[in-house]
Amino acid sequence: MEIKIVGYGSELYQESVRLREKILRLPLGMRFTPQVLEQDKHCIHIIAVDNGRVAGTTLLEPIDIHTVKIRQVAVDYDLRNKGIGKKLMLFAEDYAREHGFKTALLHARYYVLDFYKKLGYSPLGDSFTEVGIKHYLMTKRL
Ligand SMILES: CC(C)(COP(=O)(O)OP(=O)(O)OC[C@H]1O[C@@H](n2cnc3c(N)ncnc32)[C@H](O)[C@@H]1OP(=O)(O)O)[C@@H](O)C(=O)NCCC(=O)NCCS
Repeated sequence: MEIKIVGYGSELYQESVRLREKILRLPLGMRFTPQVLEQDKHCIHIIAVDNGRVAGTTLLEPIDIHTVKIRQVAVDYDLRNKGIGKKLMLFAEDYAREHGFKTALLHARYYVLDFYKKLGYSPLGDSFTEVGIKHYLMTKRL
């Protein structure tokens, strides 16, 4: 298994978008709109490749010179609990640190709070709703 960055618009990027949609949108009866995907242009796309297949993905969106947002963390159903999500997160944090970012933030779905807590993220403030799901803002000093 390899973790790497792929270019916006590349074939592996397209495969990662299909995985994000399958894991993060279709179970909610939603699809990506062109407007939502437009934001991808400004993001760093990180994927986990297992036997030539995109097994997991996340993306980094710079918010300001100090802060980066980690978004759309998703691992395919049959490859969960093998450490892929954790490896994606650590790769994303290393990349952000090496590029001068000091803080990572994310919007965590309530049912994955402990996944992020184990990685050192702390919840901040009250819950809020996104895509119909309760979320918490979480942050980590890089
Ligand atoms: C959350 C997700 C990315 C985790 O990926 P994964 O590859 O299965 O996670 P890992 O195997 O790297 O797990 C790392 C650690 O977190 C724990 N963990 C994994 N999923 C968890 C969850 N849903 N809740 C709590 N802890 C979790 C693991 O037990 C492991 O603990 P350990 O280090 O003590 O052994 C994956 O379950 C997923 O894609 N979920 C659906 C999409 C989603 O909800 N994404 C988050 C949007 S905010």
